[in-house]
Amino acid sequence: MITSLRNEFWDTGQLSGSAMATTVTDQESDHVLISTHTADPTALRSAFAGFPSGVAALAAVVDGETQVLLASSFTVGVSQDPPLVLFAVQHSSSTWPQLRQAAHLGVSVLGSRHAERARQLAGKDRSRRLLDIDHQVQPSGALLLEHSPVWLECMIENEYPAGDHDIIVLRVEAMATDDAHSPLVWHRRGFLSLTDPAAADPRDAVG
Ligand SMILES: Cc1cc2nc3c(=O)[nH]c(=O)nc-3n(C[C@H](O)[C@H](O)[C@H](O)COP(=O)(O)O)c2cc1C
Repeated sequence: MITSLRNEFWDTGQLSGSAMATTVTDQESDHVLISTHTADPTALRSAFAGFPSGVAALAAVVDGETQVLLASSFTVGVSQDPPLVLFAVQHSSSTWPQLRQAAHLGVSVLGSRHAERARQLAGKDRSRRLLDIDHQVQPSGALLLEHSPVWLECMIENEYPAGDHDIIVLRVEAMATDDAHSPLVWHRRGFLSLTDPAAADPRDAVG
């Protein structure tokens, strides 16, 4: 048995500062918390894999060579003024030291048309990552994938150490959106499309 906390805000649709109430309820659950200090590393990976996210290809031409890094840690909503986004890159990445030299980075949110070749963008053979994937290079050197729902052209704003990764904050300089392409979702080590019948339950639609 676990105790769960539930914000009244989500029930009433109203937020009134300190008046926001918290209700404590008891409910049955199969969850048993495992300490990260003693757990098998696969248990942590499995927990993290339960979090769905979008996936972005960060790419540019640097010294005449294309550099691409696929990142499910990419996220927006960090700051609107100035416009900032971020992602985390593992210290072991061999692409990031090259890509970070770029004056401008292209960020392409993967869409359903990328599903079949998405893993290729993270493949071991870096020279084949863009094989048969339509893309274009901006005058700035930023590389963008065709058929993406969102394009951003960015510059590196800050880099922060975070364990075995670095958090890279990017400033958005230019953007484009195309709602004709639905985004891919990365979940449980697989790609889902929001147009999948199972994922398109109208009862899950938000406001
Ligand atoms: C779906 C998916 C998401 C990924 N997300 C990240 C990420 O957020 N950060 C990261 O450093 N690597 C991520 N990777 C791994 C990189 O794309 C890349 O494969 C890895 O950095 C090794 O290649 P490199 O040495 O050329 O960098 C992801 C791979 C896949 C398939």
